Amino acid sequence: MDQNPNRYTITAALPYTNGPVHIGHLAGVYVPADIYARFQRLQNKDVAFICGSDEHGVPITIKAKKEGITPQQVVDKYHRIIKESFEEFGISFDNYSRTSAEIHHKTASEFFKKLYEAGKFTEEVTEQLYDEEANQFLADRYITGTCPKCGNEEAYGDQCEKCGTSLNATDLINPKSAISGNVPILKETKHWFLPLNEYEDFLKQWILVDHKKDWKTNVYGQCKSWIDDGLRPRAVTRDLDWGIPVPVSGADGKVLYVWFDAPIGYISSTKEWATREGKNWEDYWKNDTTKMLHFIGKDNIVFHCIIFPSMLKAEGSYILPENVPANEFLNLEGNKISTSKNWAVWLHEYLKDFPNQQDVLRYTLTANAPETKDNDFTWADFQARNNSELVAIFGNFINRVVVLTHKYYDGIVPKPAAFSEIDKQTLTEVKAYPSVIASSIERYRFREAQSEMMNLARLGNKYLADEEPWKTFKTDKDRTQTVMYVALQIASALAVLSEPFLPFTSTTLKNMLNVWSSAVETSLGWNDISLKTELLKPGHKINKAELLFSKIEDEQIQAQLDKLQASKKMNEIVNKKVEPQKETIQFDDFMKLDMRVGTIIEAEKMPKADKLLVLKVDTGIDVRTIVSGIAQSFNAEEIIGKKVTVLVNLAPRKLRGVESQGMILMTENAEGKLVFMNPDTDGVENGATIN
Ligand code: MF3
Ligand code: ZN
Repeated sequence: MDQNPNRYTITAALPYTNGPVHIGHLAGVYVPADIYARFQRLQNKDVAFICGSDEHGVPITIKAKKEGITPQQVVDKYHRIIKESFEEFGISFDNYSRTSAEIHHKTASEFFKKLYEAGKFTEEVTEQLYDEEANQFLADRYITGTCPKCGNEEAYGDQCEKCGTSLNATDLINPKSAISGNVPILKETKHWFLPLNEYEDFLKQWILVDHKKDWKTNVYGQCKSWIDDGLRPRAVTRDLDWGIPVPVSGADGKVLYVWFDAPIGYISSTKEWATREGKNWEDYWKNDTTKMLHFIGKDNIVFHCIIFPSMLKAEGSYILPENVPANEFLNLEGNKISTSKNWAVWLHEYLKDFPNQQDVLRYTLTANAPETKDNDFTWADFQARNNSELVAIFGNFINRVVVLTHKYYDGIVPKPAAFSEIDKQTLTEVKAYPSVIASSIERYRFREAQSEMMNLARLGNKYLADEEPWKTFKTDKDRTQTVMYVALQIASALAVLSEPFLPFTSTTLKNMLNVWSSAVETSLGWNDISLKTELLKPGHKINKAELLFSKIEDEQIQAQLDKLQASKKMNEIVNKKVEPQKETIQFDDFMKLDMRVGTIIEAEKMPKADKLLVLKVDTGIDVRTIVSGIAQSFNAEEIIGKKVTVLVNLAPRKLRGVESQGMILMTENAEGKLVFMNPDTDGVENGATIN
């Protein structure tokens, strides 16, 4: 096997195809993974940057049911949206596959079979929750109930999203079926388990000893608490009809647990890529010299650090990840991002609302990346980052350099005269940036890395502002040439060093500076910036200025805020709690009710009762007494003359000694005040029937 210490397998969590991708996913996983992959390619490393859609699991079937379509239709729809938006956003996957692909079904089945045949699973019949009405077992997201750890009443059968604890469905207190709302029964069923307890020693050594120092503290901490709690066998199969069939006999109606098959998706996606590119996939998965990294969000830590490594270990021929740089969560305008509540900035919508401004979002998400703690995205910050950093510093510097070079020298890099101390110092400083930025990236500190890149732009901007070549142009031609020469060197360093963070900008800038063209001996590389004495030689011709960034106006920001407000409103409407519908009645039952239009002709307070009014109501049939519990919403006087709806054949009953001969229909408004259900009755006679 080919020994190559420069090989990287970089995976990014496979997104669920039960919805599009939002900024939380981007900030947590895809932007940092992309920065890392682009950076390693710039170091001439052999990179496989792998992803794909995670198309199994209960959320997909729930979504399908809700939308009245098949699970396959759900995954087809979102797979396309996600894949296309990633592409347009410049996430540079070498391969984006999907877990419904044949190669994945085959790879995952074979993986399971290998472990099964090697006796790596235990087989257990246990009691699982079952919905008798839906005729199905309730696993994972099919069940909700109270979290035994934190008391959250909306925990799922696999996880409590409030406290982050990973659960078994049977751990929940007061479990309820997400399909029917019914209380489930317990029913016996057979499943295969991966005995994680047998991997405890291996995990202790590998994580708690070998990786104590180099894994992020949030990742290490979660792993440690899992291991300290004691690991238990974990079911790797489910009773569901959507997923990869369990490939052994006696497993009808059973599929692989989604968290068993999904990470294998990294392997199948790599195979797909290798076949297409004529490479050997095993170099990327089974060679000790390959560095494997999993980029994920914090809710995925246990799966990537405990379960998947145990699976790989059980299989025996795979390498383990060198690091699992997991991020915390990004909030949006102070609230948790939520797909179901539509509290999100969706990537595909952003791309429509801000065409050709991918880098602005990438920049903002990296600047606020939730690397060590949860962080907040606000549109105001997005606008400020664009207007006062990208436009005012980076864009301004480049624009001045390119425009002035054309104005003074027809676009030709001038020959420098004598360098001043400032010039020398500036050129030396530029040379330090590649290693400073690289060191931050290598430690997964992308915010820090990007802010160093921006410091280089700042350095250039300040240099020009201080040296004022537009002033010296009239008095000292030599000085102007030198300053412009230095500024052009900074600009070309920026063209290269911005690539991992701002790939679109970097491409435009390289075009502007004409560093792609064959006239340049070699195109610029990351390390050339420190090694070469000059990046752009005098006499080199650059191209015309193009716009890199443009100001984002208040109206655009307001439109986004309005969009969020609208979805908040919509949610309030949809999630409003109302009384559940009562049992169905027959038409005849309804016809038994005799309801009439009537008029209140007298009203007085019932003595010593807070709530009751004694009314005389003209029902058209007669004038009768009705005792009504509305005294807290109305004064007696204000309701005299009111048209009302009366249930007239309700059996009379005594209230505080007064016989009430019917009932007035009422409802309650949002403030809890009672409101008459008085029909729109202008011109309707008392006694008219209602049906
Ligand atoms: N779909 C999962 C999520 O969005 C991530 C799956 S990662 C994989 O949380 F390793 F399983 F593929
Ligand atoms: Zn909880």
